Amino acid sequence: MRALQFRTYGGPEVLEWDEAPDPHAGPGQIRIAVRAASVNPIDWKTSSGALSGGKPMVGTGYLGYDAAGVVDEVGEGVSGVAVGDAVFGRGHNTQAEYALLDSWAAKPPSIDWAVAAAAGVAGETAERGLRLLEVTAGDTLFVDGGAGGVGAVTVQMALARGARVIASASQANHDYLRELGAIPVLYGQGLAERVRAAAGGPVDAVLDVAGKTPVGDLIGLAPQPSQVVSIANFAAGQAGARVTGGGADSHPMQALAQVAELLEHNKLVIKIQTFPFDRAAEAYRISQSGHVRGKLVLVP
Ligand SMILES: NC(=O)c1ccc[n+]([C@@H]2O[C@H](COP(=O)([O-])OP(=O)(O)OC[C@H]3O[C@@H](n4cnc5c(N)ncnc54)[C@H](OP(=O)(O)O)[C@@H]3O)[C@@H](O)[C@H]2O)c1
Repeated sequence: MRALQFRTYGGPEVLEWDEAPDPHAGPGQIRIAVRAASVNPIDWKTSSGALSGGKPMVGTGYLGYDAAGVVDEVGEGVSGVAVGDAVFGRGHNTQAEYALLDSWAAKPPSIDWAVAAAAGVAGETAERGLRLLEVTAGDTLFVDGGAGGVGAVTVQMALARGARVIASASQANHDYLRELGAIPVLYGQGLAERVRAAAGGPVDAVLDVAGKTPVGDLIGLAPQPSQVVSIANFAAGQAGARVTGGGADSHPMQALAQVAELLEHNKLVIKIQTFPFDRAAEAYRISQSGHVRGKLVLVP
């Protein structure tokens, strides 16, 4: 098969769409013939070497953490899914012709492959953030970074729970946030005052998606520091906020089932831009710019 890969750390120019060994489903996994795989910031953080801890590159690196496709192998101990089923979910090395998923849900038939592929990491992360913050109907949530992959899904999943959502973005994305149903505010200097003004007071919970606002400003908006959860500023814990990287606090199968249901009922709409696998570098460049609207998705 072919897979996106890199043999040296660097920018998008190091990516190659080339031959790779076939993966096979181990216990608890399924293998899919990939119809689409999304690009997440962790992909370029991996290929740039930013996550290597300063260690030199060894061997070949593969990329991709979510995908949608058709099941063609079912690992030991897996039930409820069969060869031929259309699914989407989370895995490793998914930017390839075949990939292993560790968690998945049935793809609603009305949902495009590329949209389903975009929902894996973003959907699970959004569900986790909202669950940790216990966001329920009537709450006011502030999402810092509401127009990107995780942010736009979080906004819609919170609205589906009956919360009121204020979200930050650059001016160019304010109409997009309104379209999703959020109250937009501009990020940067003065953000906290703008959020308070939009909320008419403090908010019940803050999900820091972008990791760019000083954590003290976000904590000042919430009833207590622990009602700020960050997915992108891992130093935020020192100030009393909670940080999550998706370990034991992740419930991926339940999260993806929720995401599938919201997609099916049009409560979750994901704006996507697609690129063929052999033009992945273009998608990586856009992702790396930090100003993605919705999701970038690679397709065969
Ligand atoms: N911990 C976890 O489990 C987990 C899971 C998934 C992702 N992540 C991390 O979370 C971050 C976001 O991921 P993503 O997929 O949503 O990224 P993305 O799709 O690239 O979106 C980034 C968003 O950040 C916004 N932004 C840029 N500068 C900002 C600022 N100063 N203040 C507020 N918002 C700003 C951008 O809005 P504009 O375009 O309007 O500027 C853009 O919409 C990444 O660092 C990623 O690695 C962590």
